[in-house]
Amino acid sequence: MKRLVLAPLAVLALLAAPAQAQNADTGKSQFGQCRACHSLDKGKNGVGPSLFGVFGRTAGTAEKYAYSSDMKAAGEKGLKWDEASVFEYLADPGAFLKKYLAKDSVSNKMPNKFPNEELRKNVIAYLLKEQKEHEGKEKK
Ligand code: HEC
Repeated sequence: MKRLVLAPLAVLALLAAPAQAQNADTGKSQFGQCRACHSLDKGKNGVGPSLFGVFGRTAGTAEKYAYSSDMKAAGEKGLKWDEASVFEYLADPGAFLKKYLAKDSVSNKMPNKFPNEELRKNVIAYLLKEQKEHEGKEKK
């Protein structure tokens, strides 16, 4: 019986461990679930906007992408993507925009929800790593 009680705690401890590099590797393959709609190449939009340089970017501002009016409204209201906001957005994009804009219904264009926290963390770790590596190259 004791095992059953302890197991969830062990899982929590694992989640809290700073295993960033490993997360990024797993996130790279999990990003396969985003790739159908998102590329990481600058200016290359698909069904969704390019996620090149998304951290620090104002929501709804990737070049030449036709966002929903409410994603643009969120950007105008000051939404800038960081780890915490992307983490929350991915869980339920429509609900996120409703909350952010304090509206009952929104014109969200991203249909997928990613309730799996582990996946969201890994994908974010991967995106951050890619962005940092790229920025490193640009400075050289
Ligand atoms: C079925 C297509 C689809 C999938 C799959 C998808 N997205 Fe999206 N995503 C979109 C669309 C469309 C938008 C634009 C939303 C809008 O305008 O309301 C978007 C917007 C975003 C934004 C905001 C970007 C910006 O420029 O403001 C982020 C961040 C994002 N997606 C991340 C992800 C990640 C990470 C995944 C995978 C875990 C993912 N998306 C999976 C279609 C998708």
